[in-house]
Amino acid sequence: MKRSNIFLAVILIYVATACGHKEMDNSVLINQKEGLVAEDIAVFYPDQFDSVQTLPSMAVIKDLNFTNALPGDWAVKPEFSTTDTSSIVRIPFPKGTDLYGNGEVTGPLRRNGTEIKLWNTDNFGYGKFDGKQLYQAHPWVLGVRPDGSSFGIIADNTYRQTFELKNPITITSQGPGFRVIVIEKDNPEDVLKALADLTGKMKLPPLWALGYQQSRYSYYPDSQVREIAQSFREKQIPCDVIWMDINYMDGFRIFTFDENGFPDPKKLNDDLHSMNIKAVYMIDPGVKRDSSYTVYQQGSAGNHWVQNAEGDEFNGEVWPGQCAFPDFTRPETREWWAGLYQDFMKLGIDGIWNDMNEPAVFDGPEGSMPFDNIHRGGGDLPAGEHIRYHNVYGLLMVKASREGIMKANPDLRPFILSRANYLGGQRYAATWSGDNVSSEAHMKMSIPMTITLGLSGQPFNGPDIGGFTGDANEELLAQWMSLAPYYPFCRNHSAIDVVRQEPWSFGKKTEDVSRTAVNRRYRMMPYLYTLFHEASISGLPVMRPAFFADVKDQKLRKEEEAFLLGDKLLVIPSWAKNPALPKGDWKSIPFEHEDDGYQATVKLKDASIVPMSKLIQSTEEYSTDSLTLYVNINEDGKAEGELYNDAGQGYDYQSGGYEWLQFKVSNKNGSSYSLEVNKKDGSWDKHHTYRLAIVNEGGVSYSDWKTEDLIFSVNN
Ligand code: NOJ
Repeated sequence: MKRSNIFLAVILIYVATACGHKEMDNSVLINQKEGLVAEDIAVFYPDQFDSVQTLPSMAVIKDLNFTNALPGDWAVKPEFSTTDTSSIVRIPFPKGTDLYGNGEVTGPLRRNGTEIKLWNTDNFGYGKFDGKQLYQAHPWVLGVRPDGSSFGIIADNTYRQTFELKNPITITSQGPGFRVIVIEKDNPEDVLKALADLTGKMKLPPLWALGYQQSRYSYYPDSQVREIAQSFREKQIPCDVIWMDINYMDGFRIFTFDENGFPDPKKLNDDLHSMNIKAVYMIDPGVKRDSSYTVYQQGSAGNHWVQNAEGDEFNGEVWPGQCAFPDFTRPETREWWAGLYQDFMKLGIDGIWNDMNEPAVFDGPEGSMPFDNIHRGGGDLPAGEHIRYHNVYGLLMVKASREGIMKANPDLRPFILSRANYLGGQRYAATWSGDNVSSEAHMKMSIPMTITLGLSGQPFNGPDIGGFTGDANEELLAQWMSLAPYYPFCRNHSAIDVVRQEPWSFGKKTEDVSRTAVNRRYRMMPYLYTLFHEASISGLPVMRPAFFADVKDQKLRKEEEAFLLGDKLLVIPSWAKNPALPKGDWKSIPFEHEDDGYQATVKLKDASIVPMSKLIQSTEEYSTDSLTLYVNINEDGKAEGELYNDAGQGYDYQSGGYEWLQFKVSNKNGSSYSLEVNKKDGSWDKHHTYRLAIVNEGGVSYSDWKTEDLIFSVNN
């Protein structure tokens, strides 16, 4: 980044020249205050900025105090203006810049020329608003210049707003003036790290949450859940989790169970656990208006509901009929909500699925609440209308849910999946891309969507594998399951009225393809978990765009078929047509059962090592005792890689209970290789047996297994 060497002690600079000037669209330019808050981070405020209107920030968790004046050559500068009804920010950017981000979006990976409205929307099949309003709001853009230097823009604003990614980028908000944060770095990775510093990181999830997961709306009754679990074990397709969708409830009343279908949830969960399978249950925000129902009684007694413009309890239609909705802006309400999980989790429930939290209201405007509903706030959150708090309703809900399940199970890492969220929401929950369609187009689009959420701060995400609405078929499911190993969040889920799409539903071919794919995921678990650890400390995504391999190579900037897993694996789906691939000596890893025609090609970067473990059926069996190190030696005969390893559950890792190892392999001469293992960090000292798998043009050559004297001979 180019910056003046002399920083003035003066903190604020007033840009006075623009005042009162009318733009073509009748907006009036206004003054602004600006300054640096860190070496490469600037904040811009429109004049007359009223902090009570948009702060405290729901995205940014750091105080942003000016430290220095903005250098004269600061490149990306917002310009503020207003009309009678909106606040506008225009941000010109250098020609040739590629834009990414905006969170959960349909369409291409490279976002130049796109437009999106940030207004969390229950968007079945992405059919509403041309798919340009989905379940989450990320007022965030990442710009990558031709030389790889990059910037990030946060519009620190929760109100309903539109992003037009033309030059200038134009953000039009229906709320008051808001501040804009601009990050300037030498490369996109550093911008994402700065974004994570500002908005918070995903906490390390329990290892089981990285496993394969099976869901359907809904498995009912509990005997069907047991059958599904049994089938995975009989068919030897690894699986870690089965999901309970709304039908487990009594009349869709949250925190209750249907006494016919789910008479003994504790027993069901115990049975699943005995098969090394975890149980995740859905909880929606809408509470049935039913005076004989405890949750509704408690919520009414505690005055916990969102109010309509007249100050009365707001009611709207969701699955159970007319519902009331917790006002999560109130600290007392969040505390009450958190407490509801106490007894629920005691039933052996492992994770929580918060759905419909845009919030979806079937009979409300645009499928949600009226803009003028009232959220009463409390603590440091001021009272405000729904138009201010809509986009963070889901974020505040999962914040409360997370606190609740952590209190209920203080020794366990929480896992929550949320449909709605907002920039920074990775602090509380993983996500999936909602009600996609069982179609080839949506399968292919799931790759840019997953990458884009990762480029917007949310590493832990993935689509409904197989597609949610519409019937899947043999071919589609085989194709989609073959991508399962690579999504950070890996769950097959389908709607209530469509054909079944468990891996075996279309016969042997798809079942075999699925098994091969899921086996790959479990073999790669040491590498995957290492990537999740990296994401939890740095904010870097797990699934990454191909251009991260060579940011100066313009040909990679639009690539959205091939992608990276971490920085060492390049994944090329079998259906990819002429993908642009990074230069360098990437070599294919020959997994077992390679040639079913569906599996992706997975290439290992040169000079790299990726650790893999033995095949298991559940992460409960996970062990790093025996590690196969896949090695792509470079011209100098060297390669490097890493492993992060801990108990996979609990918090010992926070006090050193882990090992973070660095591997270095060098080719001593001919077929002789030496492995050096160094501890990067952690107090664990585990004993591992290693073998090397030297990847070469024709395939792979394995060494013998060794525990010490790590000199290996490999038959090339
Ligand atoms: C909508 C969610 O997006 C979907 O995944 C779920 O199956 C249904 N709600 C029913 O709960």
